Amino acid sequence: MIIAIDGPAGSGKSSTAKQVAKRLGIIHLDTGAMYRAVTLFCLRKGIDFRDETGMAKAVSEIQISFTGSPPDTRTWLNGEDVSDAIRSDEVTKNVSDYCAVGVVREALVDQQRAIAKTGNLVCEGRDMTTVVFPSAEIKIFMTASVEERAKRRKLDFEKLGVSKTVEELAAEIAERDRKDSSRSNSPLRQTDDATLLDTTGMTLEEQIEAIVQMGKPLLDK
Ligand code: DC
Repeated sequence: MIIAIDGPAGSGKSSTAKQVAKRLGIIHLDTGAMYRAVTLFCLRKGIDFRDETGMAKAVSEIQISFTGSPPDTRTWLNGEDVSDAIRSDEVTKNVSDYCAVGVVREALVDQQRAIAKTGNLVCEGRDMTTVVFPSAEIKIFMTASVEERAKRRKLDFEKLGVSKTVEELAAEIAERDRKDSSRSNSPLRQTDDATLLDTTGMTLEEQIEAIVQMGKPLLDK
C-alpha cells in the first residue's frame, strides 16, 4: 500500500507522514530530504543548477540513504549524516532551483520507486500523487494558509537557533510556492482524485489521525 501526500512547504506533510509511518508501522519516505541532500552537495561543490554537465556529474556521484525508523530517521549523503545540514537556511533558499533540474528529478524518482517496492510506505513531496505514484491507494493534497505555514517554519527555525520574522518567512514561502507550482518539470498541483486536507487550524494530532484512519483498512493491500 502506498499513501502519497503532496503539498506546499510548511503544510505539515513531513511531521504528519513521520507519525503516520510510526503508527501504521510502515516506511516513511521524505522526498524533500532527498532534494535537499542534492542541493547541499551542489552548494558545497559550487555547482550551479544551470550547469547541465556539472549537474549530471553531481547526480552520478550522489548516494542518498535513510536509516532508523520514524520519527528518528536520519538522512545520509555519501556516508555522512546530513539530517541537520539539509535544513539550513542556505539549502532551504536554494532547493527550489536545484529540484527543478531534469536529471535530478529523473534520478530521484527512480530511487523513490525502488524504495516503494520494499514495503508499505507513506511518502510526501510535490509530485508523489501526480508523477511518482499516480496509482497510490491513498492520495492526499495537504495545505494550509501561508501565514499558518510561516508560523510553523518560525518554530522549526527557532529549534535550529535561527531567528526570523513571520513576515520574512511568509515571503519566502510564497516565493517557494510560486516556484514549485509554476515550474515546467513536475509542478505542484492537486489531482482530481486526491483528498484535500487543509490543516489551517488543525492540530498535528488531528492531521495524523485523519490519515491513519484512511490507511488502516488498507494495510494488507
Ligand atoms: O518539503 P521540503 O521543504 O523539504 O522540500 C524541499 C524542496 O524540494 C521544495 O522546494 C520542493 C522540492 N520537492 C520537490 O520538488 N519534489 C518532491 N517530491 C519533494 C520536494
